[in-house]
Amino acid sequence: MLDLQLDLVSGGGRRAALETALRSAIRSGRLVGGGAIPSSRSLACDLGISRSTVVAAYEQLIAEGYLHSEHGSATRVAALATAPTPTPEIDLFGPTPLHDFRPGEPDGSSFPRSRWLRSVRRALTDAPDSALGYADPRGVIELRAALADHLGRTRTVDADRSSIRVLGGFGAALGFLAETFQRRGITRVAVEDPMLPLHTHILRTVGLTTVPIPIDDEGIDVDRLRSADVGAAIVTPAHQYPTTVTMSAARRNELIGWATDSGAWLVEDDYDGEFRYDRRPIGSLQGLNPDRVIYAGTVSKSLSPALRIGWLIVPEALRNDLLRTTGVRGGPSAIDQLALADFLERGELDRHIRTMRTTYRRRNHALRQMLDDEAPWLDVSGGAAGLHLMATLSNRDLDESKVLAAADASSVGLLGLETHHRSSAAGNGFAIGFSRPAEHHFPTALERLADVFRSFR
Ligand SMILES: Cc1ncc(COP(=O)(O)O)c(C=O)c1O
Repeated sequence: MLDLQLDLVSGGGRRAALETALRSAIRSGRLVGGGAIPSSRSLACDLGISRSTVVAAYEQLIAEGYLHSEHGSATRVAALATAPTPTPEIDLFGPTPLHDFRPGEPDGSSFPRSRWLRSVRRALTDAPDSALGYADPRGVIELRAALADHLGRTRTVDADRSSIRVLGGFGAALGFLAETFQRRGITRVAVEDPMLPLHTHILRTVGLTTVPIPIDDEGIDVDRLRSADVGAAIVTPAHQYPTTVTMSAARRNELIGWATDSGAWLVEDDYDGEFRYDRRPIGSLQGLNPDRVIYAGTVSKSLSPALRIGWLIVPEALRNDLLRTTGVRGGPSAIDQLALADFLERGELDRHIRTMRTTYRRRNHALRQMLDDEAPWLDVSGGAAGLHLMATLSNRDLDESKVLAAADASSVGLLGLETHHRSSAAGNGFAIGFSRPAEHHFPTALERLADVFRSFR
């Protein structure tokens, strides 16, 4: 007899329950393609339901392609409906550690929920019906106008509503830029070494060759860039990830000089430029030459990566090619864009960043203090900006993997540097973020991190 788990009490009736049970038996392979299924009479009898219910269910599944029947022969499971071999889904994130010091995300518990909700409500209430159609692929005009004002004021960029493109975060924007570069015949792109592995992966996925260029204490090595034969370079001048280096004024000028002379594009990834603790935020590279620099910003650190909203300021010469590449792909929800426009216009983002800067400054100091006290064998850099510190193990005979294993065993999230390096050898240590734990949990999380480091004294 066919073993069908029929849940006849959960609503929807017997016929729907029988259909669901048959579909799932076919999808899972318990009913094999080509095999005969019981006659409606015998199944009705086995299940204690009426024959007409079984006949109706079979007819429905024949119409859907799960079963087929030919005149005069038994109803069979359709060959095409057999279960495909399941492919395990890639797990991009893994489990979230209890005490999370991986860089990359702001404190979700500090998201200004009620103020954001007010902006969403206002945006949706005020939006004309036409705003609920396909949005302008460049980004809704209200957001581009608000961003032009905000970025000009806070990040010294040269932007107007026609140069801004709103996309689904920097990751999506980088993918589209990579495709755009390729359309223009560029095959080699320089990346900082070390850098976020995900971004190298995005460039390579499109088919570009990435050329790693070392970082020194002033930023990317422009001499090496000169001989790299690349059509573009991706840089993080305000706060290099993961080394925390701020590009010096001299290096900025040198870099702009290289791009101008060689006709190469610079992509300025300004992912956390809002968070500067020792002085006013450093201005953008883009302001120095808006014709060569593509500026990229995101709300992923300042507000939330869940929104998937980022923006590019695009030199005029690239705009049409980028628009041809994105088409209508890649834009975040127009309703969220309108909400962000409202949020910006009312000064809510400025307010939120000010509040979080104070919170993160305090955490930054507490983390630094703990590392100085408990792990003097780490060389710590950073602290003037951003949401992470870098700690290297260069002078000690200890491998980062041992510390990472101990952290993992204590449910402490820590990110090793090894995967960030492309060519240079110095990849032993950690990028330690201080923004993820909820505010009330931060002291406990810091204690647990201290325990891990203490165990290697
Ligand atoms: C170096 C760097 N750039 C950019 C981003 C932001 O990317 P997105 O806007 O896709 O969230 C991150 C986030 O972790 C980052 O670490």
